[in-house]
Amino acid sequence: MNESDVLILAIESSCDETAAAVVQNGREVLSNVISSQIELHKLYGGVVPEIASRKHIEKINQVIEEALEVSGKQLSDMDAVAVTYGPGLVGALLVGVAEAKAISYAAGLPLVGVHHIEGHISANYIENKELEPPFICLVVSGGHTHLVRVSDYGEYEILGRTRDDAAGEAFDKVARAIGLGYPGGPKIDQLSREGDPLAIHFPKAKIEDAPYDFSFSGLKSAVLNYLNGCMMRGEEVNKADVAASFQKAVTDVLVEHAMMAVKESGMDKLAIAGGVASNGTLRAAMEAACRENNIRFYRPSPVLCTDNAAMIGAAGYYEYKKGVRHGWDLNAVPNLKLGER
Ligand code: KG4
Ligand code: ZN
Repeated sequence: MNESDVLILAIESSCDETAAAVVQNGREVLSNVISSQIELHKLYGGVVPEIASRKHIEKINQVIEEALEVSGKQLSDMDAVAVTYGPGLVGALLVGVAEAKAISYAAGLPLVGVHHIEGHISANYIENKELEPPFICLVVSGGHTHLVRVSDYGEYEILGRTRDDAAGEAFDKVARAIGLGYPGGPKIDQLSREGDPLAIHFPKAKIEDAPYDFSFSGLKSAVLNYLNGCMMRGEEVNKADVAASFQKAVTDVLVEHAMMAVKESGMDKLAIAGGVASNGTLRAAMEAACRENNIRFYRPSPVLCTDNAAMIGAAGYYEYKKGVRHGWDLNAVPNLKLGER
């Protein structure tokens, strides 16, 4: 460790994962502890905000202690505390923000608030040491579907976004409709391996005046109509075919838009991020399209695609280096916009 090395204690609690990590110089993860609440929310078919907040309170101290212990570092070795302060569930975010403020105050450390999506994008820096902006990033999570031009560290231009459901939300809703339970993404990913992606033709939405924007609610309705039609006709539904065909429709649109954005911006690098970026079919399709078009393709390991604090440590480092510091008045901002500080 050099004098100039920067160690960040990062905290994430925006949805249903309580997570803490120690990250060195933005790219080296010394620990990455995630306590998932999925089993708890499964009972209700989705995340229950009140339960999420309560569980974060129960777990957060333990998760942070473990992150420090695994890293082999002390709180006094840290240079800053980074925390997700939006977007997300307000009660869940508040737990992490209050904890980060308390720790940074008690330990005399600077506080750096981080945008959750900036965290997802920055997850790509961890395993790709050579990746530097500018590049295009497709962010596909449970709450967001954004096509972003990353001009520099912390500098973003949103080229396209979803007009209705996020990609992950569509996965979750379709999974529920075919009786797979929560969270739907990984279950559809799994089941689709036994299905035929060409079995059912589901429509792809195009938005005329905004070619980079997405819309998934029409696709979701088409799946529901298909299921209803089968039921009315007394036909048995092949769930694996529905899963594979739906997944293909989502993947095709994501790949098409991403390729168009990279080409039209004159860039040669594409990264993907967010929970849906751990989808096997999407990763393979995006990789093939990039290869065909001579585009360098980056994607985090699945554990760094879904919510974690290592990505907040990566993003927090670049914010810290820019001189971003938050005060004790830092609050949770449930609808925080990307690029706002
Ligand atoms: O990024 P994330 O962990 O949380 C948010 O910031 O929203 O994303 C969660 C979303 C959920 O909708 C989940 O169903 C989806 O990511 N997801 C997947 C897969 N793993 C998680 N979707 C498709 N395939 C997967 N393997
Ligand atoms: Zn997320």
